[in-house]
Amino acid sequence: MKTNGVKIFACYTIVLFLCVLGLSKLFVKAAPAAEPPVVSEPADVVAEPEVKEILPEKDPPEADNTWAVFLVNQKNGLPADYGDNLETALVYESYRDYYMDARVQKYVTQMFEDAQEAGIDLVMVSAYRDVEQQERNFRSSVQDRIDNRGMTEEEAYEDTLSEVAPAGHSEHNSGLAADIMVSYMTDMSDDGFKDTEAYEWLKEHCADYGFVVRYPEGKTRVTGYKFEPWHYRFVGKYYARYMTEKGITLEELFEEKHWLDEEGRAIYHNFTDTAEGPAAESTVTENTGEEDPERSSDDI
Ligand code: DAL
Ligand code: ZN
Repeated sequence: MKTNGVKIFACYTIVLFLCVLGLSKLFVKAAPAAEPPVVSEPADVVAEPEVKEILPEKDPPEADNTWAVFLVNQKNGLPADYGDNLETALVYESYRDYYMDARVQKYVTQMFEDAQEAGIDLVMVSAYRDVEQQERNFRSSVQDRIDNRGMTEEEAYEDTLSEVAPAGHSEHNSGLAADIMVSYMTDMSDDGFKDTEAYEWLKEHCADYGFVVRYPEGKTRVTGYKFEPWHYRFVGKYYARYMTEKGITLEELFEEKHWLDEEGRAIYHNFTDTAEGPAAESTVTENTGEEDPERSSDDI
C-alpha cells in the first residue's frame, strides 16, 4: 500500500513536470522576436559633408541686355566711379532735358512714342542724377521733414530713407531709372498717379520695352521703399517680362537666382558684361547729371 502511494506520487510529479515543460515551450514560442542589436558605424566611416556653397545661376542665353541686371538699393551701392564711365544720351526734352544711359535711349523713346499712339501723354519728371544731386535731394528731404513736419533729425532721416535713396545707392545714379508721369499729373506728392490710365498702360506695357515698376505696392519690406508708381527701371526685356509675370522685384529675382549673400548683398553683378554695348544709333551726349537748377518732383 505504501509502495503504491509512492508510485502514484512519482507519476503525479512526472506528469506535472511534463505539463510545466510544455507550457513553458509554448510561452517562449509566443514571445515577440527581440530587436536586432544596434551596430554602430565603425569610427573610420565619415558621412559625406553637406554641400553648402550654391553657385550663382547665370543669365539664360535668351536674356537680352544682361549688362543692365544689377542691384542698386540700400544694401548695394554703385562703384564710386560708375558715373565717370557712364555714357548718357538725351531721352526726353521739356522745360529741362533728361538723360539716361545711352544704351536705354531707344527703348525709352519707343515706349513714349507707343504710349502717345495709344493716347497716353507720358511725361518724364526725373532720369539720370549724379551722386552729388542725390546727396542734395536726400539732405533737403531730411530738412523738409524737420522744418515742416515736426520730426526730430533721427525721425526725419528714417522717414526720408523710405522714399529717397542715399547718394550712390539710387537707381537714378545708374542712368537706368526714370520717373514717368502724365501731362496732367506731374507732382509725385499727389498719390493719384496710381489711379490714372497712364499708370495702367505703363504697368501693362513697360516690360515690352525692358522696364519694371521697381517699387511696387505691397513690396516695401523687400525693396525698402514705399510704392512708387512713377519709378521705372530698365533691366532688359527678358528679365522685365520674367519679373512682371512672376510678380517679383529685383531683390526677389536676385534671391531666387542665388545672386545674394546672407546679408542681401549681391554676389553676381553684370557691371562689365556689355552684351549689346552702347546703342549705335543713340545720341550720346555729355553726362549732364550736374545740371539741376531747382528741386521739383525730381527729389525722389
Ligand atoms: N526714390 C528712389 C528710391 C530714389 O531716390 O532713387
Ligand atoms: Zn525715381
